[in-house]
Amino acid sequence: MSFDVNAIRDQFPILQRQVHGKPLVYFDNAASVQKPQKVIDCINHTLTQSYANVHRGLHTLSNEVTERYEQARKTCARYLGADEDEIIFTMGGTDAINLVSYSWGMENIGEGDEIILSLMEHHSNIVPWHFLRERKGAVLKWLKVDDNGAIDMNQYQSLLSDKTRLVAITGLSNVLGAAPDIKAMAALAHGAGAKILVDGCQKSVHGAVDVKALGADFYVLTGHKIYGPSGIGALYGKREILQDMTPFRGGGEMIDCVTQDIVTYNDPPHRFEAGTPPIMEAIAMGTALEWMMAQDIEGLQTHEKALTDYAMGKLSGLNWISLQGKGQEGKGPIVSFTMEGAHPHDVATIIDQMGVAVRAGHHCCQPLMQHLGVDSTVRASFAAYNTEQEIDIFIEALMKARNILS
Ligand code: ALA
Repeated sequence: MSFDVNAIRDQFPILQRQVHGKPLVYFDNAASVQKPQKVIDCINHTLTQSYANVHRGLHTLSNEVTERYEQARKTCARYLGADEDEIIFTMGGTDAINLVSYSWGMENIGEGDEIILSLMEHHSNIVPWHFLRERKGAVLKWLKVDDNGAIDMNQYQSLLSDKTRLVAITGLSNVLGAAPDIKAMAALAHGAGAKILVDGCQKSVHGAVDVKALGADFYVLTGHKIYGPSGIGALYGKREILQDMTPFRGGGEMIDCVTQDIVTYNDPPHRFEAGTPPIMEAIAMGTALEWMMAQDIEGLQTHEKALTDYAMGKLSGLNWISLQGKGQEGKGPIVSFTMEGAHPHDVATIIDQMGVAVRAGHHCCQPLMQHLGVDSTVRASFAAYNTEQEIDIFIEALMKARNILS
């Protein structure tokens, strides 16, 4: 098996379309990736041939779809190096982190307890911890990052203490592409008696994960960034932690027994999946993960790194572009920058006219923007199907935007 970008591109029907009469150059992958035919076929098959509710019926369709839903959980467990009872399906990454905040945090974090998080976290890995600050009196401790997103491990060690209950850290920054050394951070967190939650929404799309080797207590991924649908994600939690956690949502399927006086709960993971889950989405996320695992992952990572280096090299040659994050070991395929004299929103709007899709804004990372001293950036993020030729089109579009805006 070797990595062949053209063979990959052929599997993504949306890449055939034009935008404003130009071939689509889709560089907004960190926001959401496009879907391969295999995932589209899975969605179509599920809804046309194999749909019913899960875990409830005694009829063929319900049994069939329950089997496929639970198979998706096994696939997800395999992708993360976990056991299937440690995988909770959620509505996405944000939902998974909120689940930890409510189910684990509300019971295990109290007045004066500390949560360490980095300045480059996405709001979804900040706001649920602010809830614990507001409602439980927790104290948020901030890990500084340098201009490339590198964490100062000395500062990290100085923040860890017997008051630390949780370290909440991204696996890969959605703005800088920086990838913290999770294994080292987890070992230090555990040494201080704290748990570590890894927001793997950006990291997990670039190759399978081994949560046990990393030492993560919680690991979060989201379907729509990993070639699957939106509305679905997964939370890995260590079995012994999940067993001690009370549910965040109450409803059908999460109970053992309900009477007028008491309720007892189902075992994990079902305890945390109240109500009808995103059935088709979970099955399609399983297909997306299977699709990922069938790729030449080393080849994919080499390809994405080559694209990133190529884009960074081209952008560095433009003296009216300021790159945020010049790169570090393990940088993911995400490039953020500002253009002299131009608002990022204007840049994104103009290059869209040339068929190029990027994200512009604060990327749900306001503390990072404040730290970097900018309000917003333009962000180009690459996936398996992108090419160097597309980067050339993007650079040409930026030059045109520069001419219009300067
Ligand atoms: N978290 C997504 C992004 O970075 C939406 O764009």
